[in-house]
Amino acid sequence: MKVKTVVLPAAGLGTRFLPITKSIPKEMLPVVDKPLIQYAIEEALEAGIEKIIVIDSVGKSSIADHFDIAPILEKELEERGKTDFLEYEKRLGRMANLAFIRQKQPLGVGHAIAIALPLIGNEPFAVMFSDDIISAEPMVLKQMVDEYERLDSPIIAAMEVPNEMTHQYGILETGQEDGRSYKLTGMIEKPPKGKAPSNLAIIGRYILTPDIAPILQGIDKDHTGEIQLTTALLELMKKRNLYGYKFIGKRFDAGSKIGFLEANIHYALKRDELGDKLRDYLKTI
Ligand code: G1P
Repeated sequence: MKVKTVVLPAAGLGTRFLPITKSIPKEMLPVVDKPLIQYAIEEALEAGIEKIIVIDSVGKSSIADHFDIAPILEKELEERGKTDFLEYEKRLGRMANLAFIRQKQPLGVGHAIAIALPLIGNEPFAVMFSDDIISAEPMVLKQMVDEYERLDSPIIAAMEVPNEMTHQYGILETGQEDGRSYKLTGMIEKPPKGKAPSNLAIIGRYILTPDIAPILQGIDKDHTGEIQLTTALLELMKKRNLYGYKFIGKRFDAGSKIGFLEANIHYALKRDELGDKLRDYLKTI
C-alpha cells in the first residue's frame, strides 16, 4: 500500500535554542531563508506524500500561518513584478495540504503520533523530525518509501555515529543485511555511555505500519516522563520484521546549535547567489 501520509511532531519546547524559542517555534528557525519544517515538507512532497499532519502546541501558530496563502503579500509582489518569489509563494500555498493537531501535554513523540492516528486510517505512514535535516538526492524519505515498497515492513532511518555520541540517540541492534537495510534484532533509546549495542543511530525518518496503533495507545511513559516511539517499535518488533535503513545523504542535527549553523552554511553554499560570496568570506576567517 502506498505511503500517503506524514506525521511531523512539532510540539517540543525547543529549550536548546532559548531564548529565541520563547517566541519563535524551533521548527520555524530559518536555514538560509526557509524554516526548518519546510525542508521536511518539501522532502515529504518529493516522496509522493499527499497528507501532512503537524502535531503542534500552544504558541506555534506561526507554522500554520507560514503554509497558508498570503493574499496581501501576493498582490504586493505582483505589483512590484517580483514574479520568481510570487510563483514560489503560490506553489507553497498550493502544494501542502496540512492538518494540525494540538498536543496538549508534553508527553513525547510516541504520544504525538498516537494522537495523529485517527486521521491516518488503516494504512502505512511516515514520521519525520524536522530538526534532522538531510541533504540528499533523491531525498531520504523518497529513498525510504522505495525501500518500504521493496521490503513491505516498517523502516527506520539509520546512520553511523561515533561511539562517544551513541548516548544521544536511539541505537539499533542489527541482524541480517539486505542491501542498505538491516533486519533489526533490538534497539535502545539513548543507552548509557559504553552500553550501546552498535553505533547505528536512529535518525528522524520512519515508515510505520498501522499495526503500531494499538501498541502506541497502550504503552506507558518511561523514566523521562515521555511516551517513546522506540518503546513502541520494540513491541512491534516482537510481531514482525523491522528494518534499519542506512540512507544516502548528509544529515545535520539542526536541533543542536552547531548542527544548525552547519546546515545554514551547507545550504547557503549550494545557493547560486550566495555560494561564492560565502566561500570568499569563510576564507578570510
Ligand atoms: C529522537 C529519537 C531518537 C533519535 C533522534 C534522532 O530523539 O527518540 O531515537 O535517535 O530523535 O534525531 P531526540 O533527539 O528527539 O531526543
